[in-house]
Amino acid sequence: MAEDKSRLELIEALAKRRGFFFPSNEIYGGIAGFYDYGNIGTLMKRKLENLWRKYFFGLDDNFFEIEAANIMPERVFVASGHKENFVDPTVKCRKCGTVHRADHIVEDYLKESFEGMTPVELTELIRQHKIRCAKCKGELEDVSILNMMFPLQVGADLEVKAYLRPETAQGAYVNFSRQFDIQRKRLPLGLAIVGRAFRNEISPRQLTTRMREFTQAELQIFFDAADIDKHEKWNEVKDYKLILYPVAGRGKNPEEVTCEDANKKMDIPKFYAYHLAKVQQFFLEKLKVSKEKFRFRELSAEERAFYNKMHWDVELNLETVGWKEVGGVHYRTDHDLSGHGKVSGQSQEVFFNEKKFVPHVLELSFGVDRIVFALIDLNYDADEKRTVLKLPPAVAPFSASVFPLVNKDGIDKKAEQIYESLKSDFDVFYDDSGSIGRRYARADEVGIPFCITVDHHSLEDGTVTVRDRDSTKQERVKVGELKERLK
Ligand code: GAP
Repeated sequence: MAEDKSRLELIEALAKRRGFFFPSNEIYGGIAGFYDYGNIGTLMKRKLENLWRKYFFGLDDNFFEIEAANIMPERVFVASGHKENFVDPTVKCRKCGTVHRADHIVEDYLKESFEGMTPVELTELIRQHKIRCAKCKGELEDVSILNMMFPLQVGADLEVKAYLRPETAQGAYVNFSRQFDIQRKRLPLGLAIVGRAFRNEISPRQLTTRMREFTQAELQIFFDAADIDKHEKWNEVKDYKLILYPVAGRGKNPEEVTCEDANKKMDIPKFYAYHLAKVQQFFLEKLKVSKEKFRFRELSAEERAFYNKMHWDVELNLETVGWKEVGGVHYRTDHDLSGHGKVSGQSQEVFFNEKKFVPHVLELSFGVDRIVFALIDLNYDADEKRTVLKLPPAVAPFSASVFPLVNKDGIDKKAEQIYESLKSDFDVFYDDSGSIGRRYARADEVGIPFCITVDHHSLEDGTVTVRDRDSTKQERVKVGELKERLK
C-alpha cells in the first residue's frame, strides 16, 4: 500500500515501472552506483540537456559546446591537483570489514553535515560519540583517505597510465589554448561539455543522486581576472534578488539579496553575481522550481573544493532527502590553466586587453542526473485517485499524447492523422491500448501535460477533447487549433 512506502521508494517504483531509470545490469545483479535510463527517462534527460544548452549558450555569443575524451592521461590530474586532493575520508569496520564514507557515517549519526573535515577530526568525532559500523555495529578503525578516480592502463602493453575523468571540466582546460585561437582570441570565452564523469564513490546512495558514473553539464567561462568586478549586462541583473544562504547565516532562513547588495555588502564580484542570477533564473523560470525550494549555499574555506576560491552550491529542497546540491558556481581562478601550463610545459597565457596573462575561470557546474531526479521528486504528486508528475512542459518526456476513444469506426484513422500532423512540431505519444482511464493514468505518471482524445464527435464536428494533466479539466478544441493551443 502506498502509505507503507517512503516517497523515495514510491519514486523508485515509478521510475522502474515507467522507464525513467533503474539499476544497470540488473540481470547480473548490477553494481551499486550505476543506473540506466529507460526510454522515458532518456527523453526527459535530453530535454533538460537541450534546455540547458539553449539557455546558457544564449548568455554570450562566445559560449560553445565541445566534446572531449572520457579517458585522460595521469599528468592531467597531476596538473589539476586531483591526483593529490580528490579524496574522500573512509573508515573501515574492524569486525565485518565494510568500508564507509567517514563523513557520511558521522552525518547519519549526528544529523549534521561534516563535509570538509580532516581524517583526524572525523576520527575524534567517531571516538567521542562512540559511532559504530552501520552494518554490524562493530568498532571502526581510524579514518583514512581514498582517491576517488578510477585508474586505467591503456594500450596493448598497458603502459600508459590514465584515469576516467572525475569531472568534465578538465576536457575544456586541456583544449583551451586551441579553442582560444579558433574563437578569435576573445574573452570571455565559454567552453561547455555535457558528458560523463566517473567517481569511485564509497557509498553510492539515494538512487541517481550519488552514482559512480553520472552526467555533468559544465560551462567553463575563461575571463580576464582584472574584469571580475564588471559585466557588460550588469544592469539587467543588479536589482534581481538572489536567494543566498551564506556561511554567516547558517541555521537561519536564506536571505533575498539584490545583486547590487551582494556585490557591495557581501563582496561578491559583479561577474560572479551576474552568473549567480542567471543560474537562479534557469531554475526558477525555466525549470519552474519554486523560490522556497531553491538556495545558493556558500561553502566555507574548509568545505570548498580544493580548486575554488569562491564556491556557492545550488541546492534544492527535495521532498525525499531535504536540501540537496545539484550544481555549483565555482571561481577556480587560474588554478587549472596554470597547473596545465606547468606540467605540460605549454604556456596557457593569452594576449588580450594589451597584456599577457593566464585567464581565470568561472565554472557553472550542474549534475544532470541530480536535476532529473529533483524534478521528479519535486513534481511527484500522489493520492488515492492518481499518481501524477507535474513536470514543467519544457522537460516533460512528451508534450502530448493522442488517444482514439475506440479502435474502430474511423476514429483510429482520424487519431493517427492528428498524431502524424503534430509529430513534426511536438514530441507526441500515440496510445491506443487499454481503457481511456488507464491511458490517462499512464500519461499522468510520465508527466505528459496534455491528452488529446478523438471520439465520435470528432468525426462530426472536427473537434477533440484536450485534457489538462494538472487540473484534469477537459475542453473541446478544433483540430485546426491544436498546434496553437499546445504551443
Ligand atoms: N567540475 C566541478 C565539479 O565536478 P562537483 O561539485 O564535484 O563539481 C558538480 O560536481 C555536480 O555534479 C554536483 O553539483 C552534482 O550535481 C553532480 N555530482 C557530483 N557527484 C555526483 C555523483 N556521485 N552522482 C551524481 N551526481 C553527482
